[in-house]
Amino acid sequence: MHRILVIHGPNLNLLGTRQPEIYGTSGLAEIDAALDKVAREKHAEIRSVQSNSEGVIIDALHDARSWADGVIINAGAYTHYSHAIADAVAAVNLPAVEVHLSNIYAREEWRRHSLLAPVVKGSICGLGWRGYVLAAQALLELLDDR
Ligand code: DQA
Repeated sequence: MHRILVIHGPNLNLLGTRQPEIYGTSGLAEIDAALDKVAREKHAEIRSVQSNSEGVIIDALHDARSWADGVIINAGAYTHYSHAIADAVAAVNLPAVEVHLSNIYAREEWRRHSLLAPVVKGSICGLGWRGYVLAAQALLELLDDR
């Protein structure tokens, strides 16, 4: 059975009410429920963590070394400036998929660069909550291939 850690970064606890025209109307609980459904269908385990703190996100990544086979990460704004989180993703050496609800390439200039992009297997952005479902399905298939 494959195990996946999902990291929801800063401000994603506000999903549902946070700029719904950009991030959609689904809350984090609904996204996690959609991921639970994928986990049940694919006989996998998916654990989600939300944190607004860089250090907690890094600790969760380190901890994942002991139990997870892969990582899905939406690091929120840390995506664009946290070398520490990018280093942690590289350091734990687990296949990772980067997700963004919004299309970061169609927004402000500073959002168009991701420090995570070079250290993940692939990235999904602009598809709202569905991006998490697609990321989970793809990551589980990549893990099956190994
Ligand atoms: C985000 C995009 C980031 O630029 C932003 O800071 C977020 C959310 C997204 O999911 O679209 O907090 O990662």
